[in-house]
Amino acid sequence: MAFTINSLSGYFHEYQKSVLDPAGFWAGIAESFHWHQHWDRVVDWDFNKAYVRWFEGAKLNITENMLDRHLFAHADKPAIVWEPNDPNEDHRVLTYRQLHSAVCSFASGLRKLGVQKGDRVVIYMPMVPEAAIAMVACARLGAVHSVVFGGFSSQSLSDRINDCSARWVVTSDGAFRGSKTIPLKDWVDQALTHCPTVEKVVVFQRTKENVNMQEGRDLWWDAVVDSSVTDLPAVSVDAEDMLFILYTSGSTGKPKGVVHTCGGYMVHSAYTFQNVFQYKRDHIYWCTADVGWITGHSYIVYGPLLSGATSIMFEGVPTFPDPSRFWQVVDKHAVTHFYTAPTAIRALEAFGNEPLASTHRSTLKVLGSVGEPINEEAWHWYHDQVGCGRCPIVDTWWQTETGAIMISPLAGITPTKPAYATLPLPGVQLMIVDENGKELQGNSVQGNLCIKFPWPGMLRTTYGDHDRCIQTYFSTYKGLYFTGDGVKRDEDGYYRILGRVDDVMNISGHRMGTAEVENAINEHPKVVESAVVGFPHPIKGQGIYAFVIADLTDRTEANLKREIVHTVNNIIGPIAKPDKIQIVPGLPKTRSGKIMRRILRKIAEGETRLDALGDVTTLLDPTVVEAIIAGVEQNKAG
Ligand code: WTA
Repeated sequence: MAFTINSLSGYFHEYQKSVLDPAGFWAGIAESFHWHQHWDRVVDWDFNKAYVRWFEGAKLNITENMLDRHLFAHADKPAIVWEPNDPNEDHRVLTYRQLHSAVCSFASGLRKLGVQKGDRVVIYMPMVPEAAIAMVACARLGAVHSVVFGGFSSQSLSDRINDCSARWVVTSDGAFRGSKTIPLKDWVDQALTHCPTVEKVVVFQRTKENVNMQEGRDLWWDAVVDSSVTDLPAVSVDAEDMLFILYTSGSTGKPKGVVHTCGGYMVHSAYTFQNVFQYKRDHIYWCTADVGWITGHSYIVYGPLLSGATSIMFEGVPTFPDPSRFWQVVDKHAVTHFYTAPTAIRALEAFGNEPLASTHRSTLKVLGSVGEPINEEAWHWYHDQVGCGRCPIVDTWWQTETGAIMISPLAGITPTKPAYATLPLPGVQLMIVDENGKELQGNSVQGNLCIKFPWPGMLRTTYGDHDRCIQTYFSTYKGLYFTGDGVKRDEDGYYRILGRVDDVMNISGHRMGTAEVENAINEHPKVVESAVVGFPHPIKGQGIYAFVIADLTDRTEANLKREIVHTVNNIIGPIAKPDKIQIVPGLPKTRSGKIMRRILRKIAEGETRLDALGDVTTLLDPTVVEAIIAGVEQNKAG
């Protein structure tokens, strides 16, 4: 495709063009794709109403751009290379031809189960190629997939199924993750006791463990696949029809269903993939994310396949069977591009350089980072040790809501700076504002990160609740999309993301709302009230610290804490388990009843000097703070 930038001056030129004439700029890129019908208008928008339309009037099917188009030029090129959890099991290769026919056969099977354009299908799968096949098969039919990360609990799953009224669930018997086997189907069974809309469950066999198959509802994957159909015509949809819903945590309430649509997301995910990674045809690209997150959607499945790339899909974890696994996989598949999260980098760095020594990693050309701020130490280890100082790092900032990468170096083109996401990609018009929404112009400023002009891959709504979309993203600062992140622009105009400024935590690169964890903790019958904050954690970036008021009359503190962890695990999943729980006599509240998290955050960070906590005079009962601090000391001693 003709839209890859190949020099720094080229970047500035394209950036300029994208700001002066956004419609012309994106139309030029969109021309490279296959559409059934051309658009009437490139962009139409009103941020005050969270109204955004790209390529309106156009018709397409994204899967033709991911599969059919490549069959002419390189049908036998590997599209997905799957590396299993256990290194002794064979890996699998699906060429573009094979992937195309697998998608068509499964799509035909889904259609026979009644799936039609616009229907929602929930996918709850391990990292096997069938997860991607299921996603793309939905898109083939114009149906909407909603992938739920396999580490979420049955309750999280049922909440998501119910929110989008899905009638089909695609899952597997179980999942292998490191040395563990996870009973996904059992969790689906539990979830479905609360999901009246679900009619059929398709079960892929992965672990081959015994599972309960409910007659009339549950079907094996192999029985659904319609192998007589290897070329199913793609359903033509509007550019603004929904492609997928992906649930993500916010600062309030339950996770929201972020909605992405077909045309804009296609153009944006492919454009950013090819430019950020400087993708060339012989590259072997590996993103270690799970398809349950946006990174897996945009940079394992959509971006790479739209670009005709070879995308590695890894089922396992970085430390199984040992902490050299990532690097073993890099050597085994001659990976050129490696994209992971700072958490994984820090976790592996903690094992030292020995696990690196058994591998050469000489095929690597580009390293990527995503999901959370990367600290300088981890950046240097990644750059110097993993990449032997040869590979540029692309620190890519973006969000579930942005759909695709927004701020990032172009690999090998943009000069990098440790811990900086550097510069906005073409089409991305950033604005830094202060607390009052006043723009902070020029360099060397720090404030809240907003975006002032729409981009093709942005969210269109939050499923079933458009007002929530307006409230969450477009009402903090009038006329702007607010990211929820703090940012610094340095003396060179480079951007450094400082982390969330709202009540969203970032645990191992995964977003988690404080309110969500509090609600889960409060489900324990002995808990009266709780307040949760993030605190700096050497590996996870942030850990979860829970301050809990509880009735301890009939249990020990240790038992209660164990039960609380168990409760959170059941309600949300292991990623939301508190790292620290402190039982407290009260919470620092203002006279109007609002919890002052600022104080709790400082205490969680390790501050135990009362005078360093800031103004506590507005508290209803300032002695609560002293009691909490005394408790911290006791907790440590205990
Ligand atoms: C954070 C993940 C610093 C940020 C793609 C954002 C980052 C949230 C970076 C979105 C980065 C993501 N540097 N922080 N390179 N990338 N973040 O929706 O706080 O899971 O708002 O999307 O992760 O998380 P999400």
